[in-house]
Amino acid sequence: MALTASFFFPLLLLLSAIFAIASESAIRLPSENLVAGGNRKVRADDGIFCDSWRLAVETNNVGKWKQIPARCAVFVQAYMTGERYLSDSEVIGKLSSEFARSVRLVGDERDAWVFDIDETLLSNLPYYEDTGFGTEIFNETSFDQWVKLAKAPALLPSFSLYNELQELGFTIFLLTGRSEQQRIATEANLLSAGFRNWKRLILRAPSDQGKTAAQFKSEKRSELVDEGYRIHGNSGDQWSDLWGFAVSSRSFKLPNPMYYIP
Ligand SMILES: *[C@@H]1O[C@H](CO)[C@@H](O)[C@H](O)[C@H]1NC(C)=O
Ligand SMILES: [Mg+2]
Repeated sequence: MALTASFFFPLLLLLSAIFAIASESAIRLPSENLVAGGNRKVRADDGIFCDSWRLAVETNNVGKWKQIPARCAVFVQAYMTGERYLSDSEVIGKLSSEFARSVRLVGDERDAWVFDIDETLLSNLPYYEDTGFGTEIFNETSFDQWVKLAKAPALLPSFSLYNELQELGFTIFLLTGRSEQQRIATEANLLSAGFRNWKRLILRAPSDQGKTAAQFKSEKRSELVDEGYRIHGNSGDQWSDLWGFAVSSRSFKLPNPMYYIP
């Protein structure tokens, strides 16, 4: 008994010291947001909150949203421009590649992989750096001007996957919500970013305008299936790239905390 107490009392002291330091550093983090916690007010940590918000976005628990929370502007900027975005994308690229290598290809050129373009193969980060990382409501006019420049760089983990899939013998389809009017700029951008040998670039025709991305993309995948293609994999940064009907055997969701497309 005495032995137990003499062992646990210093341990308790040490633990409470650690907790004191930990909570001290937590309340030092910058935040404007005060939330009521019982009788006292505690600071809600934007970093923790915004990381939870980001997870809720990725898991599609947020549903439709138009702007990132104002308090998460700094968080999203740090996520996108720091190491996390690249690292998260790399992990997904490696998992995609692992799956692709496990697929038994028939070898009749009907083994397909579908890629979305924006924030999947091409990164519009330079545009979003200029427009607040999703804090502003999407401006179609200024985004179209950016698309015309055809200057979006490749998202490197997707670029590696794209090339590996071709070596493995997959037939690659690019399926994007961009419109037919943007075909020439999109092709020019893909080529200058290093992408080659896609089978088909599928864009929204005038008759597809007004459809949700999920509807449009499902219809187009369905047409591919009707042509005899087996869609093994699908890579996209939006859930609307991946679900609906005629879905792939495996879908790979790339991160995107900046905007949501239904
Ligand atoms: C959208 O972008 C265009 C072109 O940059 C600009 O002229 C316009 O004011 C913007 N619209 C809004 C609502 O910010
Ligand atoms: Mg996209």
